[in-house]
Amino acid sequence: MEKVPYTGITPELAQSNSAKKLDTNLHLQNSKVLSCRDEQLQYIQKDSICMEIGVYKGDFSQKILEKNPKKLYLIEINTNYCENLKIKFKNYIDDNIVEIINKDSLTALKNFEKESLDYIY
Ligand SMILES: C[S@@+](CC[C@H](N)C(=O)[O-])C[C@H]1O[C@@H](n2cnc3c(N)ncnc32)[C@H](O)[C@@H]1O
Repeated sequence: MEKVPYTGITPELAQSNSAKKLDTNLHLQNSKVLSCRDEQLQYIQKDSICMEIGVYKGDFSQKILEKNPKKLYLIEINTNYCENLKIKFKNYIDDNIVEIINKDSLTALKNFEKESLDYIY
């Protein structure tokens, strides 16, 4: 059966409200609880392929970029926020490090192969 990348659910389910329920067996296996979100930054490897889903002003994206990823995909549904992000990260975009994707997350993720990302926030 076809599955939506990363969610482990069918396309039909992804369109329904049921998709909002967390499958704890699938999504929390091998997970670790961190005391604050900045703690996760230590796990980002230099030259890794990263993604942030829901970016807003890009404050956390800036912290990810300080870890020197090879690529950072920024998925943001709000077009106005994306326009601001294009200005904020112009140099990174010009260097082909940041790519801003103005789509909802499930739609955007359909264009990524399984296991093609090292880090997702
Ligand atoms: C709490 S803010 C994110 C903050 C940011 N990650 C940070 O740590 O500073 C949530 C963002 O998610 C975006 N968002 C909400 N639903 C989304 C979706 N389905 N796909 C992509 N972005 C979404 C909102 O527009 C908003 O910018």
